[in-house]
Parts: sequence; C-alpha cells; structure tokens
Amino acid sequence: MQGLIGPPDYSQEPSRHPSLRINAKEPFNAEATRENLISSYITPVEFFFKRNHGPIPLVDDISSYNVSIGGLIAKSIQLSLDDIKKLPKHNVTATLQCAGNRRTAMSNKKEVRGVGWDVAALSNAIWGGAKLCDAFKLVGIEYNTKMTPSGGKHVEFISVDQCKEEDGGPYKASIPLHQASNPFSDVLLAYEMNGEVLNRDHGYPLRVVVPGVIGARSVKWLDQINIIEEECQGFFMAKDYKMFPPTVNWDNIIWSTRKPQMDFPVQCAICSLEDVNTVKPGQVTIAGYALSGGGRGIERVDISVDGGKTWIEASTHQKDDVQYIPDDISSDKWAWVLFKAVVDITEDTEIIAKAVDSSANVQPEHVETIWNLRGILNTSWHRVRLQIAP
Ligand code: MTE
Repeated sequence: MQGLIGPPDYSQEPSRHPSLRINAKEPFNAEATRENLISSYITPVEFFFKRNHGPIPLVDDISSYNVSIGGLIAKSIQLSLDDIKKLPKHNVTATLQCAGNRRTAMSNKKEVRGVGWDVAALSNAIWGGAKLCDAFKLVGIEYNTKMTPSGGKHVEFISVDQCKEEDGGPYKASIPLHQASNPFSDVLLAYEMNGEVLNRDHGYPLRVVVPGVIGARSVKWLDQINIIEEECQGFFMAKDYKMFPPTVNWDNIIWSTRKPQMDFPVQCAICSLEDVNTVKPGQVTIAGYALSGGGRGIERVDISVDGGKTWIEASTHQKDDVQYIPDDISSDKWAWVLFKAVVDITEDTEIIAKAVDSSANVQPEHVETIWNLRGILNTSWHRVRLQIAP
C-alpha cells in the first residue's frame, strides 16, 4: 500500500450534495431522489449513488501511488497512475447498479438484512481509463486468457478501506480471468468519471469498473490486482452478494452452496412518481429507467395503468439525438435506457412498469417469489399508487 490510506474513522469524509437520501451515515450510503436520478441520461457525479463499507480512503502523495499486478504470473509489477495513463484510454458509458437496489420494497414484504435502498442504488456515468486487458499485456497475459501457465483463473481486486465485515481489513472481490482479459468486456481501470478526475467517494485515484455486473465487483481505491486460482474468499464474495432461494433463512444458510452474483438481471423502475401519489384527473407522465446485465439491451418497457390487466409500450431513449436500438452499435450496451409514457388517469389506480431485455428475459411479477434473506436483486414489477385528489 503506497500513497493510499484507509482511515480508521469517519473524521475525514468528503462533502456530499444535500439533496441525497442518506440510507446509512457511517459508512456513507446514499442515493439521489427519484426525480434527480432521471433528470439526465448521464448522472451528474453529485447525484451518483454512494455505496461504502468503511471510511473513504485518502491519498497523501499521488506520486507515490502504485497498484500492483501479482499472484499466479511469471513476474509481478507495480504501476503508477502515469503508467496506467500511458495505456490506450477508453471512455465507457456504464450503469453501476448495487445488488441491493430496491431492497426496502423487498423488506416491506418480509424482513431482510442490509442497508435499505429505494430505486436509486444505480447511476450511469462515462468512465475514462485503461482496459484491464491492456494492463495485463504488461505482465504477459494475452487477450482472452482463461488460465495463466501457473493456474490463475480469477482476478482479485484489493482496496485499502477498513471494513467491519472484513474485521477491519480491506474490501476485495474478484472476476473470472477470461472476462477480465476479454477486450469486449470493457473492464476498466478508471481514473475519470464524466470527464473529470474520479472523486474520493467513487474511488480516487483508481477503481475497477466491471460493466454489466453488480456494483460490488467494481472495487474502488484499488491497491492490488492478484491473479488467483479460485474466486476471492473475501466476505463480499463468500458471505454476501449471493442470491439464495426464498426457503433459505439465517438458521439453514450454507454460503458455499451458491456462487457469488455477477451479471444483474433485467430491471426497471418508475422515477417520475413516488410509491403513493395524489394527482388531479388528467395526464400523468410515467418515466424511469430500465437496464439489464451482461450487455443485454432493453427490448421494451410495458406500462399498465390498471394494475396489470392491460399494457401499453413506453418510448425508450439513451442519447437525445440518436434513436435507441437494443444491441445496435449506436447504443451504449452497458448503460440504462430511460423510458417515458404519458397516460390519462381518471380514477385511483396502480401503475406498473416491467421491462423485457433483448434475450426476452422479463421481470418477475411478485417480489415474494424472489425474496431472499439478504434482499438482493429485487427486480419485481415496479408498482406505484395514484390517488385522485379529492
Ligand atoms: N470498493 C471498495 N473498496 N469498498 C466498497 O465498499 N462497495 C462496492 C463497490 N466497490 C465498495 C467498493 C459496492 S457494493 C458498490 S454497489 C459500488 O462500489 C458502488 O460504487 P459507487 O459508490 O461509486 O456508486
């Protein structure tokens, strides 16, 4: 660990935008209001959700900052930020989504453990940095390598933040080597966010961005990259961020029976309305976001204004001047799609949104069917209530 310090307490936290909804103060976990979240396709840094498990690290001297690449490779190296900036630079538009997004709604059905989140534990940014697969070339790992000659099959990212779950040790996670070394996976060592230097909350000076995968694998404040044989055994890989069936509870859970979650499933949420709204009869705008993991596009977003009896299709867009076509080269494959429909409302009703991705995966109808004790991946149909003003 050089140049980067994981402080033991919260006395040196950065300042944050006052409009954020704070879900936990220490560690700091916060999301934008629904309205702010969808006010633009690219989320301004101040509205980008913040998901932490310890105090925010500090850099005392950027010239002494290094990240190491080591483990099951012939020779380890240390890279300074300048070394990383010398590699080809890529800008990748990608939505990071925390697996706990919409956890509060799952908890409302049956209690789950974890920080409560409304629908904004995700945000969309343009990440600037080097591809990890290009940094790998410096240690002799070629594109699309499944295993190194010494048996490395996974890539572990280790930070410096002091996390309670790791008994004061750093946050860590891993992804498969074949994904990390595939140039089309766009796994980045990012030093910029929306064209600016990455800020402290989001991983300054360097973070990993793993597009299409739950946010937990995009390790911030990167200190070490290790090529390892099996998946990283850190808390957030082995004992968290796994999807269990509804029958598993805290008495019968065996963590090792499930794989760490990687890609996220198809998801959408209405952000122009709160859970319960009072409106005048007439036109109401239903707007929000939809996205799917693994680079799958959004085929359509269905809206119902009568509790699911009938459906209409919402319009979808990413960039203003370009038509959104799922899985087309003109579309940002790792990014969310914003949707909109204007509907006529005459009586109290339930509005529903559900998305279909380009592999025809559809969101599940009821949250109960996907309930899991850690409350991850609540991708059930999003429902809000409208009441006509008396
Ligand atoms: N990296 C470190 N070092 N420490 C963390 O607590 N949280 C992870 C991931 N990387 C985390 C981390 C989780 S669970 C998520 S969802 C994303 O960072 C959130 O990134 P953001 O705070 O930039 O939105």
